[in-house]
Amino acid sequence: MVKQVVTTICFVLFHCIISYWAFMSSCSVHSTATTIPAIARYFGTKGRYEEVNPYLIDDILDIKKSLVKLPSLKCYAIHLTAVIRHGTRFPTTKNILKMRKFYDLVVRYASGNLNCLWEIKSNWKMWYRDEMDGRLVDKGREDHKHLAQRLIRWFPSLLTKENLRRGRVKLITSSKHRCVNSTIAFRAGLMEGLNIQVELEHAVNDTLMRYFDQCERFVKEVENNKSALEEVKYFNEGPEMKRTMEKMADRLEVPYANITDDSVEAAFYLCAYEFTIKGLNSPWCQLFDKVDAEVMEYSGDLKQYWKRSYGHEINSKSSCILFHDLFHRLDRVVAQINSDGVVSEVVTVQVGHAETLIPLLTLLDLFKDDIPLNSTNFATQQNRIFRSGHIVPYAANLLVVLYQCPDGIRMGVRINEKPLTLPGLSDSVPLYEDVKKHYSALLGGCDQETVCKIKNS
Ligand SMILES: *[C@@H]1O[C@H](CO)[C@@H](O)[C@H](O)[C@H]1NC(C)=O
Ligand SMILES: *[C@@H]1O[C@H](CO)[C@@H](O)[C@H](O)[C@H]1NC(C)=O
Ligand SMILES: *[C@@H]1O[C@H](CO)[C@@H](O)[C@H](O)[C@H]1NC(C)=O
Ligand SMILES: *[C@@H]1O[C@H](CO)[C@@H](O)[C@H](O)[C@H]1NC(C)=O
Ligand SMILES: *[C@@H]1O[C@H](CO)[C@@H](O)[C@H](O)[C@H]1NC(C)=O
Repeated sequence: MVKQVVTTICFVLFHCIISYWAFMSSCSVHSTATTIPAIARYFGTKGRYEEVNPYLIDDILDIKKSLVKLPSLKCYAIHLTAVIRHGTRFPTTKNILKMRKFYDLVVRYASGNLNCLWEIKSNWKMWYRDEMDGRLVDKGREDHKHLAQRLIRWFPSLLTKENLRRGRVKLITSSKHRCVNSTIAFRAGLMEGLNIQVELEHAVNDTLMRYFDQCERFVKEVENNKSALEEVKYFNEGPEMKRTMEKMADRLEVPYANITDDSVEAAFYLCAYEFTIKGLNSPWCQLFDKVDAEVMEYSGDLKQYWKRSYGHEINSKSSCILFHDLFHRLDRVVAQINSDGVVSEVVTVQVGHAETLIPLLTLLDLFKDDIPLNSTNFATQQNRIFRSGHIVPYAANLLVVLYQCPDGIRMGVRINEKPLTLPGLSDSVPLYEDVKKHYSALLGGCDQETVCKIKNS
């Protein structure tokens, strides 16, 4: 009798353990604990800001003051310009279509016996609708609200009630709804963080924040020119991408012919969007291993490189207007400090796109690899510095700070709240006049109209 009970208990226990193990190892969509997909750091421009600064996962308002080293304790901040990408958003309609097509293929034809396929077929619903088209999601509002509140902590003497009341804080945005709504969320974050309510209108300025649309030469030579992006095309037709597609087809047990580079891209997006929007480590993520994710990341980085960065000179030159706008403002601040000491524009926040930030960072010579990224050097570019996931995740930001120091006015630059030294300058917080000397060719030229004019041949 006793023996029988023990046997039964053992049997039940064994089954519990087995089913628990099976549950844990499946890719459950109902898992409540948010686990981070193993491939989350490869999402590129579809990546989460927290992947760049993982300490934010524990405390979203944390700042790492110890990273900032000023030349003297007597330096204090006098101005901040922040150029910020919009927050987390829905996929665009074009990508929603690709995702739906891939989802339909999986539901109808996939016959592999991976747990995650079963999860997708029985539990996952295609909930993305065309009208979501690139709109800001709740997480995107939070991205900007929290960034505003961290900036209050970073710059307590600049983001003050007084400066807000006196209109010394300016907000400028691109006209795209996701940027306008990011700006509104940023402002709400400021008001909440400083515990005040004041009028603070934002200005919409596409000439400045969407300069790439207005640069005729860029539009003709790159945007509307298929051969400008041929390295991306060659890579997507090349051996690494082919292998990724074949592995995907093997996992789904569908013919190789049914999986295109669009299908693997759609699967990758499904994994990325489910995570950034809903915080889910969804079954879609199980369709990729680390190497596949690296290939997808490289394909995305190649596109940014050739369309927005070092690939073509006009890419960075199209941002001349934003470059001059920045230095005009900094000059004005310096002139005011040197006259009556009253700065009229203490903080300027400019909200735009990844496409707004990358060309400007490129113009400043940042994140430049010695060897260009191309269709055949995926393997040797493993340690490249041009990684869009590190540079422009959602809510990515370029912070330019002027300091009054005992020996003059100095300038600090941070990307995503991490200080960096401008290439060609030895000092991490150089004198402002040395920065100007370094960029003198651009400051004296880089005229938007001239640069963007189409050359008649
Ligand atoms: C912007 O936010 C407002 C209110 O928060 C919302 O009603 C509107 O739909 C949002 N627009 C977009 C494009 O997300
Ligand atoms: C398109 O891009 C290629 C490669 O950069 C370039 O040689 C060509 O002149 C461009 N075409 C136009 C119309 O600008
Ligand atoms: C899958 O490939 C087969 C040929 O191998 C083709 O007949 C079929 O239409 C394809 N189906 C889809 C959904 O692409
Ligand atoms: C947009 O910004 C540019 C550059 O600072 C400026 O010249 C222009 O007047 C602004 N446009 C509007 C509508 O404010
Ligand atoms: C890509 O770059 C490598 C250097 O890393 C070079 O050897 C190779 O020829 C380039 N490939 C193409 C297609 O330009």
